[in-house]
Amino acid sequence: MAIHNKSHYNHALMSLNKMRKDNTLKHKTAADFTRPEKIMLCLDIMDCCGFLKTLPDNSVQLICIDPPYNLDLAGWDIYDNYIEWAKKWLDEAYRVLSKNGNMVIFGGIQFRDLKSGDLIDIIHHVRQNTKFKLVNTIIWHYKNGMSAHRYFANRHEEVIWLAKSDDYYFDLDAVREPYTEEKLKAALKDKRLNPENTMKGKNPTNVWEINRLNGNSKERTGHPTQKPVEIIKRFVKALSYPGSVVLDFFAGSGTTGRVCILEGRHCLMCDNDKSSIGYFNKHLEFMQKLGQNTDYNCIDNVEEFFAKLEGEQQGERETAI
Ligand SMILES: C[S@@+](CC[C@H](N)C(=O)[O-])C[C@H]1O[C@@H](n2cnc3c(N)ncnc32)[C@H](O)[C@@H]1O
Repeated sequence: MAIHNKSHYNHALMSLNKMRKDNTLKHKTAADFTRPEKIMLCLDIMDCCGFLKTLPDNSVQLICIDPPYNLDLAGWDIYDNYIEWAKKWLDEAYRVLSKNGNMVIFGGIQFRDLKSGDLIDIIHHVRQNTKFKLVNTIIWHYKNGMSAHRYFANRHEEVIWLAKSDDYYFDLDAVREPYTEEKLKAALKDKRLNPENTMKGKNPTNVWEINRLNGNSKERTGHPTQKPVEIIKRFVKALSYPGSVVLDFFAGSGTTGRVCILEGRHCLMCDNDKSSIGYFNKHLEFMQKLGQNTDYNCIDNVEEFFAKLEGEQQGERETAI
């Protein structure tokens, strides 16, 4: 008797299969979009909830955030009622996401005490009270971490990927990992695998090994909880497309902005600490040292950002006719 792996019968897979059957799945990849000559980037210094209120409905393709968790890591990391506060930006995030939009939230589920919030609280709220769909939980595994004596030393963080609808954009090809020559030969012999996809590389799975930034990392801008470019890049490439809008309303050093310049996505960022501007300038300096293009349109406010975007899209429509 064949034994089926029931974990494959999850909601997302069933709805994808239904869409395939109905021929309504528009599977697009980065190659289907034109990369803008110069992306627009806006970094506002203000509270995230006020910032989100200024954004139009359905206007953002990807929200990529690394929020505070009340861990007292810094002055900004303290809230009296964590989930009451998080609800405000989660509701606004759902409103501003486009129908094919995705949201990525970094977190952790350790070092808890009563006043702290964590990714479990967020997942619980999202499941019980919102229409978001939880597509994946990614385990970010790193080999470099702090030592510990009273518990097992922590070597992972979690990141959740939420979608606004079942019709979410996902470009797996953009983030496939190449097989080694030996593994490729074996994979091409494996009858269960589609040879065309095998040639493109393998699915990176939901366990990602990427080192954390240590003190002497070349990417370090000085922000205390800066995330590596590599991990943000993977999300931006897979869950948004060239010319789309990516939003990070806990910008920190602006790693998301740096990746958007590299990958041709328009970017909206906000942080309530003005040091973000200095950190972001450091990112730009590092990019220049690496010979990367740092040319972008610096936009002062959200209104101007969307007015210019509308103009750009109108131009594209006219060229297409
Ligand atoms: C974990 S850090 C983000 C780090 C970022 N991912 C990076 O790679 O540099 C969280 C950021 O959220 C900002 N922050 C905290 N509360 C905020 C609020 N209510 N509105 C806007 N930003 C806030 C903090 O100033 C901090 O820079």
